[in-house]
Amino acid sequence: MYNVREINKDTWWLGASDRRIQLFENTHPVPNGMSYNNFIIMDEKTCLLDGVDESVSRQFEENLAHVLNGRTLDYLVIDHMEPDHCAVIPDLVQRWPNLKLVGTPKTFDLIRQFHGFDPEPHAIKVKEGDTLSLGRHTLQFVLAPMVHWPEVMVTFDQLTGTLFSADAFGGFGAIGGAIFADEVDWERDWADEARRYYANIVGKYGPQVASLLKKVSKLDIKEIAPLHAHIWRRDFDQILSLYAKWAAYEPEDNSVVIYYGSIYGGTANAADILSVKLAEAGVHNVRVYDVSKTSVSELVSQAFRSPTLVFASATYNMGIFDGMRELLEDLAAHAMKNRTVGVIYNGSWAPQAGHLMLDAIQKMKGMEILDPHVHVTSVVDGSALEELDALAAAIVKKLGK
Ligand code: FEO
Repeated sequence: MYNVREINKDTWWLGASDRRIQLFENTHPVPNGMSYNNFIIMDEKTCLLDGVDESVSRQFEENLAHVLNGRTLDYLVIDHMEPDHCAVIPDLVQRWPNLKLVGTPKTFDLIRQFHGFDPEPHAIKVKEGDTLSLGRHTLQFVLAPMVHWPEVMVTFDQLTGTLFSADAFGGFGAIGGAIFADEVDWERDWADEARRYYANIVGKYGPQVASLLKKVSKLDIKEIAPLHAHIWRRDFDQILSLYAKWAAYEPEDNSVVIYYGSIYGGTANAADILSVKLAEAGVHNVRVYDVSKTSVSELVSQAFRSPTLVFASATYNMGIFDGMRELLEDLAAHAMKNRTVGVIYNGSWAPQAGHLMLDAIQKMKGMEILDPHVHVTSVVDGSALEELDALAAAIVKKLGK
């Protein structure tokens, strides 16, 4: 049975959530599921804005049939060609042979690659600022390349002020009927998953996100409708200010994140001791994560939040312990930069993790590595304790406590 909501004049949400999914993009844990939004404008012409993931395609079909109520689908605007939004394209084209597909030139290359048919007979290729009239509604296209794929654009409805924002401003997690951010306690319940989504899906492309923010700031936006999670119709500053920070790799607060990779507990002990010293010195929100236990998806997200990152690792196979190596590689892959960094390394006979971590950290831009680099030999002893004291003092000084 159909399950839709009208979100603005002539404009309907047709989306659905998948609560069985375990890993989004087969890598990011989504314990609360995943939502896939898409929208339709019912004007003199009918226009679908993006599709959905295959997992919710049945619900989408029922929603689409209900809102169309026997009318023909005239246009499909493809803001983003990733399969979590485009699984239904071949079905739509087959059902409506005269359907026009609207996208950037790169969109049509990707249709060919993913779906194996020639989209040219259906293609309307748009460039920056082009418009499409549906009757009362005029759609304006704003290109957003590499946010986070090359073909991405966002679509602005000049009549309603709705910005169909593709993946931008989205989040992890299934949503219920409360599809608007003002219908939930967004800050309390959803901000963390919006950050984790941004950091992992879009975070590598901060300059491109900043460029998009600049372009859309010139539009008279009344509603922001992303392809995942909640739709915004007020308090835009809440999400826009977070995006401005994340895009600039600016931390949100004055906290410290301590990541440790520990085999038998010596390195974990050093991390915990440091966290106590920082908390006693008045640092708010000191967070400690075991990299072997916590998903790297969450670990990367925390780095976008905090100005101070401490990496503590045992030496393993003459290298950095597994989870820590993956974390440092992932942070570099996401272009993490401009953080204050502490290093704790452990090695019972050849403490290689220390210089290898320093090498990995120095590959990231703007990383200020504090002294001392704390050396633990198997377990924390008096010498390591003194170095932890000194590192805590350096972090506290840097934070201006
Ligand atoms: Fe939600 Fe980049 O796909």
